[in-house]
Amino acid sequence: MRNILEVRHLCAGFPTLKGEAVAVNDVSLTVPEGKIVGLVGESGCGKSMTARAVMGLIRYPGRVISGSILLDGRELVGMPKKEKRALRGSEMSMIFQEPMTSLNPVMKVGRQVEEAIRIHEKVTAEEAARRSVEILTKVGVPEAKKRCLCYPHQLSGGLRQRVMIAMAMILGPRLLIADEPTTALDVTVEAQILQLMRTLSSGGTGILLISHDLGVIAQLCDHVYVMYAGRIVESADVNELFDRPLHPYTRGLLNSVRSLRGGGDVLDTIPGAVPNLTRMPAGCGFSPRCPERCDECVMDVPGLVDMGNGHLVRCRPAEGEEAK
Ligand SMILES: Nc1ncnc2c1ncn2[C@@H]1O[C@H](COP(=O)(O)OP(=O)(O)OP(=O)(O)O)[C@@H](O)[C@H]1O
Ligand SMILES: [Mg+2]
Repeated sequence: MRNILEVRHLCAGFPTLKGEAVAVNDVSLTVPEGKIVGLVGESGCGKSMTARAVMGLIRYPGRVISGSILLDGRELVGMPKKEKRALRGSEMSMIFQEPMTSLNPVMKVGRQVEEAIRIHEKVTAEEAARRSVEILTKVGVPEAKKRCLCYPHQLSGGLRQRVMIAMAMILGPRLLIADEPTTALDVTVEAQILQLMRTLSSGGTGILLISHDLGVIAQLCDHVYVMYAGRIVESADVNELFDRPLHPYTRGLLNSVRSLRGGGDVLDTIPGAVPNLTRMPAGCGFSPRCPERCDECVMDVPGLVDMGNGHLVRCRPAEGEEAK
């Protein structure tokens, strides 16, 4: 199967008074054609930064430090801005976590969707308008024709989010990055959007789905990457990951969901917090919070080790446990 996206040893960061903070640290991940790949981890782990690096949209003064990003075999790192801009929208697009900041406040939403088409395709104004209404209806905008005449501020947050989703999907990109696409939406609309993503992926689009919601990940994804403090700490096919989580961090994430599902109202969270990037602990980034920490863990960063079936884990105690 062809890989639409191949990220290799990507490092990205931004300058601070204490030197460069590395928010994405040696990240490698792959999104094959027609597959939905999940990226999970707590707030501040570097998920959006990874996504923005792929899109070439890291906010200044952040930057890609090193590594490679191949989109359908083409290197994006170092590609001239103009060339990259031409790929955005048609070949790759992103649904942003903050939809408010991505719509033009002084342009009617219908026009914005139409322009997204007309930048990349030669179509008549009528055709663009027809397709805009069609896609807006598909993503669950009621009375789409009427809503096209509204400005963004005249729509609810949920509707604005759906307009953004429509704009990202309209050209049928080869790669879609969806950064928490349904957080602002109610469950019915969420189900609709998730179904749309399934349809898109069965048409060959590769999707990188970023979510806090492990339920959504379990329903939709084929493969999952778990990120912690800028690094991939575990990666496996979705069933393998949920049946046999190896990293103590992944287990913590899964436990916190299970304790909620089990009828308890207390979220069994992982004690402690994601470390500050400029004050990273020595060794494994998770070690200060880890119930299974051993002496070796604080000495150096463990490598990602294949435990069989392509199940990768970055954790010495987990490796040892499996070997027993
Ligand atoms: N331009 C910037 N300047 C300073 N810090 C930044 C910048 N961009 C990102 N960061 C920091 O980089 C880290 C990673 O941020 P990122 O937005 O990628 O996290 P995330 O995993 O997407 O979190 P969330 O789940 O909350 O969206 C965080 O510690 C964040 O504070
Ligand atoms: Mg984010």
